[in-house]
Amino acid sequence: MEAFNLKIFRYDPEKDAGPHWDTFRIPYREGMTVLEALLRVVEHDDPSLAMRYSCREAICGSCAMYISGWYRLACKTQVKDALEDGTVTVSPLPHLRVIKDLVVDMEPFWRNYERIKPYLIEDGPPPERERLQTPAERAQYAEMVDCILCGACYTSCPSGVNNEEYLGPHALLWAARFYFDSRDAGKDERLNRVANENGIFRCHTAFNCVETCPKHLNQTEAIQRLKAEAVKKALALRR
Ligand code: SF4
Ligand code: FES
Repeated sequence: MEAFNLKIFRYDPEKDAGPHWDTFRIPYREGMTVLEALLRVVEHDDPSLAMRYSCREAICGSCAMYISGWYRLACKTQVKDALEDGTVTVSPLPHLRVIKDLVVDMEPFWRNYERIKPYLIEDGPPPERERLQTPAERAQYAEMVDCILCGACYTSCPSGVNNEEYLGPHALLWAARFYFDSRDAGKDERLNRVANENGIFRCHTAFNCVETCPKHLNQTEAIQRLKAEAVKKALALRR
């Protein structure tokens, strides 16, 4: 392959009456990522193209986009894996307000993340040394810490469409990450924040989050574990 088409969603709400698509012919080189192709457009064709990226190593989560019909990280996605009939199609993450081109307003995502208090809650003065835990205790939430807060799961979740109050799989995953951390002293408060109709009980186990996550995390399992904790707590209260 010598070249391919890069079809990009374009929209500047301050200037455009509505969105449109621009297509650029991009020279291909072995190993090229979608982010590299987008940056080539900025450097050679149209410097006004807006997008987010930072680490280029699938760590910061900022380059999540909708690429050739799927939620992906532009910096991790190889052009050859996203080609459809010689074209790679790129649009912003859905269900969020477009600020410009591929940049969306992530405010609802971060607001919901903050609602679960994404940090260890203390119940006394800080210890003189670090808080220790056993490998078995660490294993309770081991994979959850790999979340890079990219937004792919949040924007793919059918329970969150048209309902910004739903915490979303990312926030619930982080709630579980702290709930199951032996060092955390906020278990009751955490459960109270998520065990409601805009939290774990709005998850209908559609598994979109699990399918889209570029880090291969299992948000659905984390949510089910929180549901089990909520049920156990309710039963204990009834006794
Ligand atoms: S759980 Fe996965 S898809 Fe969701 S924000 Fe974290 S890394 Fe992204
Ligand atoms: S640029 Fe950081 S995850 Fe893609």
